[in-house]
Amino acid sequence: MFLSAEKIVELQNWRYATKKFNPSKKIDDKSWKAIEDSLVLTPSSYGLQPWKFYVVQNPEIRNELMAASWKQAQVVDCSHLIVFVIKEKLDEAHIDSFLKSMVDTRGGDLAALDGYKKMMMGDLVTGARSQVIGEWAARQAYIALGNLMTTCAFLGVDACPMEGINPKKYDEILGLTGSGWKTVVACPVGYRANDDKYSSLKKVRFKNSEVVTFVK
Ligand SMILES: Cc1cc2nc3c(=O)[nH]c(=O)nc-3n(C[C@H](O)[C@H](O)[C@H](O)COP(=O)(O)O)c2cc1C
Repeated sequence: MFLSAEKIVELQNWRYATKKFNPSKKIDDKSWKAIEDSLVLTPSSYGLQPWKFYVVQNPEIRNELMAASWKQAQVVDCSHLIVFVIKEKLDEAHIDSFLKSMVDTRGGDLAALDGYKKMMMGDLVTGARSQVIGEWAARQAYIALGNLMTTCAFLGVDACPMEGINPKKYDEILGLTGSGWKTVVACPVGYRANDDKYSSLKKVRFKNSEVVTFVK
């Protein structure tokens, strides 16, 4: 069931930020389902999932988004373009819908979760962290981005995490402005073009000894 240690490192090295996708190679339904499930299965703080994943398939919209992405062609050439969208302000309604889904899934009584609700409300909705809740939500979305990249690598699917976008323009193009939701990051996924020279570049990383510290 599990991958070997060697295989995991091999696939982490195989993955790279793809600069040029093969526009004619599309992700099949089964692989896409695994990618989509990985996004949805991503863990989040308290389990609150303050996100939505927009999968942009419309070619005209993708063209508009490319103009808002420093003209990076991956946005139009990839198989699936995923945009990570977060809730701007966490509110009681979101917490209630999460708790309802918990009861629907696991059974039990909503009233028994009142303490948990109070804790989340006090921390994220009314407490000090409500002032920086957008940052909190963005961090959760980035966990989903990391999870996505790993899943893609394990499937032999390429990806390019992308902060080189204009999130406000994305919001306008995707009709999010004023909706309470906003774009944080994007990730085109698909298959590398044979002539993407970046695929063979050596990884530039600090040494393990420089970034890993054992506290004994
Ligand atoms: C959050 C994030 C945003 C990034 N934004 C872009 C981007 O807009 N365009 C791009 O070509 N690469 C982008 N990259 C790719 C990084 O430059 C790349 O991951 C890094 O140089 C390491 O190379 P590797 O992923 O090929 O191993 C981004 C990476 C991350 C994690």
